[in-house]
Amino acid sequence: MSPFDHRMLLKDMPKAFVWVGLLVLSLLLVPPALILRARAVPSEHRRIHIIQNMDNQPKFVDQQENILFADHRSMRPPVPGTVSRSQMVGDTHLFLGTVDSEFATSFPEQVTINEALLKRGRIAFGIYCLPCHGVKGEGNGIVHERAMVLLNTGANGTTWVQPKNLHEEAIAEQPVGQIFWSITNGVRNMAGYGSQVRVQDRWAIVAWVKALQFSQNAPSDMVPGADALPVRTRVAPGEEEEGAS
Ligand code: HEC
Repeated sequence: MSPFDHRMLLKDMPKAFVWVGLLVLSLLLVPPALILRARAVPSEHRRIHIIQNMDNQPKFVDQQENILFADHRSMRPPVPGTVSRSQMVGDTHLFLGTVDSEFATSFPEQVTINEALLKRGRIAFGIYCLPCHGVKGEGNGIVHERAMVLLNTGANGTTWVQPKNLHEEAIAEQPVGQIFWSITNGVRNMAGYGSQVRVQDRWAIVAWVKALQFSQNAPSDMVPGADALPVRTRVAPGEEEEGAS
């Protein structure tokens, strides 16, 4: 006989021990039963929310009384002299890019067009626009490339609108104020950058966009050393390029 005979073990155990064991076992079934019931049966009570993670906090809502303040208003009036950014429209040319409710066709007087402005515009464009519109503004930035990969591999729920090619005729002909407006407020699927980019930098970006557009269409007499560059005539698709090697 093996030294561990389970029947002997049960026999030798005091009876009370067995009953207590059975009782404990059946009590152990109660919590899972309660949890299963809570998951299955609709209840009028709030669900039990043990880990709060700041999900519920006391707060004041609009128009509510708040005795903390002498006038008992929970909505506080702005501090006297406060100027809200979105209401700073006294100078519509500078802040909105409009003159007499039309898009401005010139830069505001506060913006001086010089090399420093273009440099600034190039940097800001590189930070805020290039990822989508690409280094030359052709609408083929790295974000676009990545979005196309996701679209083509059918990653769940990806939708994408290609960033515009800023050299499209319709955009190249836009007045500077309209480009400023698009940067500030966004346009259709593009978000606005008014809250991230300062007014001066937004105008600098406009200047850089104009410079990019000009760079793709500059007449040769305005390009220093143009004579020394190889001439490349425009060739229709399918046609042989003249002098192509
Ligand atoms: C997250 C990607 C993204 C970024 C960043 C972005 N754009 Fe765009 N942009 C778009 C898309 C997409 C469109 C086309 C929107 C549409 O047609 O619905 C667009 C359209 C435009 C247009 C055309 C507006 C028109 O009238 O059709 C201009 C101009 C433009 N963007 C300039 C900029 C400039 C300048 C910046 C940097 C401040 C910038 N964008 C940053 C995605 C972007």
